[in-house]
Amino acid sequence: MTTSTAPLPIQACSPAEAAREVAREIAALIRERRAAGRMAVLCLPTGRTPLGVYDELVRMQRDEGLDFANVTTFNLDEFLGLPPEHPQSFRRYMRERFFSRIGLEPAHTWIPSGDVAPAQIAAHCAEYEREIADAGGLDYALLGIGRNGHIGFNEPGSARDSRTREVRLHDVTRADAARAFGGLEFVPERAITMGVATILGARRVRVLAFGADKREILRRTLEDAPGPQVPATFLRGHSDVRLLADGVALGR
Ligand code: F6R
Repeated sequence: MTTSTAPLPIQACSPAEAAREVAREIAALIRERRAAGRMAVLCLPTGRTPLGVYDELVRMQRDEGLDFANVTTFNLDEFLGLPPEHPQSFRRYMRERFFSRIGLEPAHTWIPSGDVAPAQIAAHCAEYEREIADAGGLDYALLGIGRNGHIGFNEPGSARDSRTREVRLHDVTRADAARAFGGLEFVPERAITMGVATILGARRVRVLAFGADKREILRRTLEDAPGPQVPATFLRGHSDVRLLADGVALGR
């Protein structure tokens, strides 16, 4: 696949509107797949940005009977060196913020392991790719964007054709995580992330960005020549991608 200079379609909206829109799309996908007797395969992020979407999906289950029985999820990433119960592990975040609230079957939720033995990491990453393929590929990838332009933990320098792998975390990523970990020295230096090509393989991609912290990196994502220096630029040219961002992040 070639790198595209196509613009990234933008929907300017408030965080609450974005959460409702994305949750509505996910719910429609789940129902359409159920009618066809198939699973809906979601790619999900952690962080602050998707919390409104998770809350809205929980509400739709409660108020509208949205049923998650035919949903499989693959998370984007996980810190290496953290056991699943660590307060900052993404496994724990997902369980507390989303999975346990909707009663999602643990067998349907995939997250890279944070405590896989070093000698097993490469095999674990290859297995993650295989599980995604065996699930029929990602139907819908929901993404946030890091202040350094990362998607998942595809840090600056990540290749367009990268796959699930071990990465060294960028200084900005670690600095942004420092408060949650109670100090930079406690932030892991390495992680496992789904690759750029894995993400771009999703049939639909939605990116959320809110607030002044994201303004400069959004400008670069929208305007820079696509390349590994800002991995989010690789999203341009995907056949079904949309950025949902508020006016502050868009600098409007
Ligand atoms: C998290 C992830 C990251 C975040 C990004 C934005 O699983 O993949 O790429 O989406 O760092 O984080 P927030 O939403 O906290 O600004």
